[in-house]
Amino acid sequence: MYKDKSNNQLESKLEDVNTSLKHSIKNMDSYTHVRGESLYVDDVNIRQGTFHAVVFDSPKAHGKIKSIDYSKAEALEGVERIFTYKDIPGENEIGGIIADEPLFAEDDVHFWGMPIALIVAETEFIARQARQLIKIDIDELPVITTAKQAKAKGSFINAPRSFSIGNTEKAFADCEYVFEGETFSNGQEHLYIEAQGAYAEPLENGNIKITSSTQGPTAVQATTARVLGVAMHKIEIDVTRLGGGFGGKEDQATPWAVMAALATFHLNQSVKLVLNRHDDLRMTGKRHPYESSYKIGLSKDLKILAYQAEFLQNSGAAADLSPAIAERTLFHATNSYYVPNVTTTVLSCKTNLPPNTAFRGFGGPQGMFVIESAIAKAAHEIGVPSRAIQEANLLDENDTFSYGQIAKQVEAKNSWNSAKSVYHLETLEQEVEAFNRVNKIFKKGMALMPITFGISFTNTPMNHARALVHIYLDGSVGISTAAVEMGQGVNTKMMQIAADVFSIPIDKIKIETTNTTRVANTSPSAASSTADLNGKATLMACNTLVDRLKAVASEDLQVSEKDIILKNEFVYINDLKSDLSWTELISKAMLKRVALTENAHYATPEIHFDKTIEKGHPFAYHVYGTAIITATVDCIRGTYEFDSVKMVHDYGKSMSEGIDLGQVEGALVQGIGWMTMEEIAYSHEGKLLSNALSTYKVPDIFSVPKNVETIPLETEGHDQAILKSKAVGEPPLMYGIGAYFALQNAIKAFNPNYNLKFHAPMTPEKVLMSLYEKQEHN
Ligand code: MTE
Ligand code: HPA
Ligand code: MOS
Repeated sequence: MYKDKSNNQLESKLEDVNTSLKHSIKNMDSYTHVRGESLYVDDVNIRQGTFHAVVFDSPKAHGKIKSIDYSKAEALEGVERIFTYKDIPGENEIGGIIADEPLFAEDDVHFWGMPIALIVAETEFIARQARQLIKIDIDELPVITTAKQAKAKGSFINAPRSFSIGNTEKAFADCEYVFEGETFSNGQEHLYIEAQGAYAEPLENGNIKITSSTQGPTAVQATTARVLGVAMHKIEIDVTRLGGGFGGKEDQATPWAVMAALATFHLNQSVKLVLNRHDDLRMTGKRHPYESSYKIGLSKDLKILAYQAEFLQNSGAAADLSPAIAERTLFHATNSYYVPNVTTTVLSCKTNLPPNTAFRGFGGPQGMFVIESAIAKAAHEIGVPSRAIQEANLLDENDTFSYGQIAKQVEAKNSWNSAKSVYHLETLEQEVEAFNRVNKIFKKGMALMPITFGISFTNTPMNHARALVHIYLDGSVGISTAAVEMGQGVNTKMMQIAADVFSIPIDKIKIETTNTTRVANTSPSAASSTADLNGKATLMACNTLVDRLKAVASEDLQVSEKDIILKNEFVYINDLKSDLSWTELISKAMLKRVALTENAHYATPEIHFDKTIEKGHPFAYHVYGTAIITATVDCIRGTYEFDSVKMVHDYGKSMSEGIDLGQVEGALVQGIGWMTMEEIAYSHEGKLLSNALSTYKVPDIFSVPKNVETIPLETEGHDQAILKSKAVGEPPLMYGIGAYFALQNAIKAFNPNYNLKFHAPMTPEKVLMSLYEKQEHN
């Protein structure tokens, strides 16, 4: 790659520098985070005369708007104006994949929390007071809150999708065992610490700049332009960083930015719109709840010969990203297993909930929960541990996924076997059994959770990025990409790449804000692909600049270009240090009028997918790993603790071990939260009941497993991963699925009459009921 392959000795020295960088690197944002100096939307220095906005939203989940009376609100002192769909100069349409979502409701409302109007006032307080003065009369219509109800009524977002391979019908006939069942996994609130928000400012000539807390600056720009009926070049989006996104700001950061811009458009004044927590919880979509059914067929020696599943996705009231998320459910329906005969179908069911959206894993976790449930059911019925079935079916090199991609550089067995041996699985098992023999009130359960997650946007055209790199005349460097920093450490990784290629210290490098004027037409920071896509573009741009600089140095030092190496801020001629420093080299390049700016474009090679046959090679590569989770259940109270989670994770060759470990641990805990304690509840009328942190429990420091260990699987990495450092953002969330089955195994140890249920989250209430339930049939 960028290293001089002609000199092995030097290469190994460079390797040393890189190794120390990767070990020592901290998330560069941590310095400003701990001082409280990091900037978010709410920290933007607002301009004099800035207005503040609050959204007026539907107090009913479904109905026709009979009348709205804004007069009292408008008359309140300090209220500037109230905007509705009537004030939209362009299209009242914000749907990204399907044009089915208005910015503001017109004649009818489709979910509780649906935006109807924007109240703009001198202060946020006044706007909130005005909101209470609005009177709305709605003719209520029947409300659908579950996917099953939607299916029964034929209420769908789009046509169903199906993946199939082999001949499932025929294969079931040959199976020794066939089991069927149903599963449910609930939604999940993103609970990013920074709520949704945007700040819009008028520039000259009707241009508008929006500071937005978005993962997708281009989506915000394009949608604002569409709603305002102006060209995209009139709208500039700027993002410093997010206080978390987790998918919740891939699409759903857009409406608030558009609303602020709409008010700015009319008032020619800056407008700030930052949702408070209650408004954010009520108005935004979450992870999709899924109601699914499965049929699994196994041979006598526990090989899964056939698998069939139907996934009912609760999409909410508009498409948002649901079709793409549904697709990823199908891609991950068989998790880490090779199944020769598969038929999976997903239906995006239209309900009267806020449109559900991207959430770490993007539909993959929902699909994986179903096959893990099917395996648990089969294991229970056959009378073997789940891990016997899991182990017998792990993916191998050259196995074909149901979507046609041939598995390469597969680490499913490697990670599984490594986890078993390094963590002494047999001893762990014996400890659990020994504990359960002597303890009546406390029971332990253990589960293994293998993961296989595909890296790339499943929509092939989205897999591209650009980087704009400037070397300033003093030798400092500024980098702009499409990458949005949301806590995952992508900015630090970009810095590392440039520091590595230029061989200069990291403090000479600045990552600029993510801005649509500097880097245009970008995909959102999502799909765990941000570092790969933007990092590759950065690498390309930096390499081109190095080539140019080498030419300058070669002329200056009168040696061949191929002998020139940039190292530790100096030019080396092979391993001989010259007197020419990085800074002097840049000055010389300036005098020679060499361009010190480069813009590179990267598009993932090889990937393709044909939706007409649902076959192709959609993923650049897969990430693998295995977790062993142990839980202890208090069988009097139904409460539980996780004793340990022991993971072997495939980082490839991690370029930033601390950051990647943080991603693994954070994702794991988020996954455990989804599977065990975070319970979203809507009333039958479609009102969010879990609308505060007092009614929605997320993992805190006390619910984190007592012992979390992660061992990197030493693998080659992959050429399409940045510096062979594999994507890490989403995959480890799915280790958390093991938590459900660890609890289930503990329940089984206490109550032999327990009827296996697959209904996540496994809250303490559900554990308690399961501990004491009597067998329903047989
Ligand atoms: N980590 C933090 N701290 N905050 C986040 O919002 N988002 C996750 C993951 N890790 C997130 C995070 C999600 S949903 C994705 S897709 C990836 O980060 C996006 O960043 P990446 O592509 O750089 O991995
Ligand atoms: N992952 C995450 N976000 C996305 C994807 C995907 O595959 N496709 C579109 N947005
Ligand atoms: Mo992540 S769900 O792809 O933003």
